[in-house]
Amino acid sequence: MERNRAIVTGGSRGIGRAVVKKLLAEGWEVCTCSRKQENIEKLLEELGNVHAGVFDVSRREEAKSFVEFCVERMGGIELLVNNASILGVRVSVEEYPEDVWEEVLRVNINGVFYVTKYCLPYMKRGATVVNLSSGAGKRPAPYWGAYAVSKFGVEGFSLLLSEELKQKGIRVYAFNPGATRTQMRAGAYPQENPNTLKPPEEVAEALYRLLNHKPPSGSYDYEVVK
Ligand SMILES: NC(=O)c1ccc[n+]([C@@H]2O[C@H](COP(=O)([O-])OP(=O)(O)OC[C@H]3O[C@@H](n4cnc5c(N)ncnc54)[C@H](OP(=O)(O)O)[C@@H]3O)[C@@H](O)[C@H]2O)c1
Repeated sequence: MERNRAIVTGGSRGIGRAVVKKLLAEGWEVCTCSRKQENIEKLLEELGNVHAGVFDVSRREEAKSFVEFCVERMGGIELLVNNASILGVRVSVEEYPEDVWEEVLRVNINGVFYVTKYCLPYMKRGATVVNLSSGAGKRPAPYWGAYAVSKFGVEGFSLLLSEELKQKGIRVYAFNPGATRTQMRAGAYPQENPNTLKPPEEVAEALYRLLNHKPPSGSYDYEVVK
């Protein structure tokens, strides 16, 4: 019997949470994490049938423990969604605080690398990796600092990984959700009316369509695959 088992990082709110809910609704087994205990407790209260724990993917040992936690519960992985990410601050390079720069790259780049590396031994032919990217990772935009650099990195990492995994029959997508009504977006654009933005549930639908259409590995934008 074909199993559908997914790991989604940063599933306690926003796009990650919507993806977790969509996958569960489609009959997938899902394991997720985030850094804050209260966020995970809230998620577990809301969705009784998800596997979820408190793990920070930017810390190597925690990323490893998270993947072990998931594999103990699900036994294997057909889908990895590297969603967890932080925004940092929106200031010029000259003003960018070094500790924030380092933290953003730790979460958005090292976290993606660690979780992917630890998941790959459990992923077989036909499995998929989706890395949440951003428009900021495709066009240089002033004042997006470490976040933009990290998302250029996610695009590059996705291309590298897709080349390496071709022979194994594992697809790799960089997926740009575009402007979405989440806490991160509100942090980036505090003056914006959130009601003018699409909800995360729409992104989860588009990501799910991408999975079902199985286009070749590569970089995709919201709604590219209808
Ligand atoms: N929203 C947009 O408009 C937009 C546009 C383009 C791209 N994206 C991308 O889409 C993805 C989701 O964004 P979002 O807007 O949904 O963000 P969000 O609302 O800030 O949610 C981020 C999630 O990641 C978790 N998280 C953060 N750091 C973590 C870490 N080190 N380890 C584990 N979990 C961590 C957070 O929970 P805790 O705080 O509990 O850790 C939260 O559940 C990100 O990759 C983002 O870059 C978003």
